[in-house]
Amino acid sequence: MTTEFPPMKNDLLLRAARGEPTERAPVWVMRQAGRYLPEFRKVRESHEFFEVCRTPALATEVTAQPIRRYRGLLDGSIIFSDILVVPQALGMEVLMNPGPFFPEPLVTPSDVSKLRTEVDVNKELGYVFEAITQTRKELDGIVPLIGFCGAPWTLFSYMIEGGGSKTLQKAKTWLFKYPEESKALLKRIADVCVDFLVGQVKAGAQLLQVFDSWAGELSPYDFGVFTFPTLQHISRSVRQRLSDEGLPSVPLILFAKGANHALKQLAEEGGYDVLGIDWCIDPVEARCLVGPKITLQGNMDPNVLYGGRDAIEETVKRMSQAFRSSEGGWIANLGHGITPGVDPEDMRWFLECVHKYSSSTN
Ligand code: CP3
Repeated sequence: MTTEFPPMKNDLLLRAARGEPTERAPVWVMRQAGRYLPEFRKVRESHEFFEVCRTPALATEVTAQPIRRYRGLLDGSIIFSDILVVPQALGMEVLMNPGPFFPEPLVTPSDVSKLRTEVDVNKELGYVFEAITQTRKELDGIVPLIGFCGAPWTLFSYMIEGGGSKTLQKAKTWLFKYPEESKALLKRIADVCVDFLVGQVKAGAQLLQVFDSWAGELSPYDFGVFTFPTLQHISRSVRQRLSDEGLPSVPLILFAKGANHALKQLAEEGGYDVLGIDWCIDPVEARCLVGPKITLQGNMDPNVLYGGRDAIEETVKRMSQAFRSSEGGWIANLGHGITPGVDPEDMRWFLECVHKYSSSTN
């Protein structure tokens, strides 16, 4: 199925992701649809979280909310869903109350037998594909649509911890006590991610982002053993499948939060066009590590949004100068997701400041 979609009116994000020069930095914000927006909370008053994800009309509406509110200021949209739909597709129950909760997490490797051996993504995650197709039509070419998934290590952590965790003790126990079983499970998750990402492109996603939110919890050595190979497997397999199936070759973005130590290796061998960085690394240093060919995405500390207009403006100005000081593409973003308490008008100011300070002539 290849649907015809409206022509693009703004392709700044796509151009920057491909490493082409842009007149200013495109900007979007991780978790831009959601909790800090009153219009999202209104939808949530009458619909459960996963109900919104599973109902294409609702997911389309919520995806479009920030695009409408910040008309002309955002250069990308991200489909409303969650990284935890992949564990659900593998057969696990996941509740959201208010954070993620797995009533039956994986305790020992023998629990892996409870997971589905064959995951048909069209059957289990077809609702995401439908939401993507509907959203592409709804967006009418105003901005490109990003599809996404969680990285295997981050999903593995949730599946074993049964929810959020400060120490990831249970997930790490698996890595160190059952390394071979852990690698096998990580590979199984990665294979579902590949099918899921390819299906999203088939449905109309124009870029793909992999979120490895817990990458920074591992030592550089363990990152290399357990997460890097799965991230590389995803980029290689997705590209191969897109080409084999005659689908568009879309830019791939990786956000491996906290894994700044791995930026050089990720740039050289990871297989992604864009690398997201958090605020713990200076953009100039990140650029030295990745070279001129990789587009960088980031990286304002989301908490600066609580610091008032002057702090936001000052930080965006400094960030823009740093990213613009050397050759290479830049997509402006925060260094992690926007948080629930942010005033939507402060988010608007952030976007306005990026427009003002990121132009190549500034
Ligand atoms: O970016 C977007 O606006 C698109 C939607 C999106 C959501 N989750 C919606 C959501 C995306 C891209 C995600 C990714 C996600 N989900 C990640 C990776 C990014 C990151 O922040 O590190 C992770 C780790 C999750 C797992 C998850 N989902 C957690 C830990 C929570 C609870 C804490 C929180 O963020 O509120 C969720 C719930 C969730 N996912 C909400 C939203 C809008 C809030 C739930 C609600 O509506 O009550």
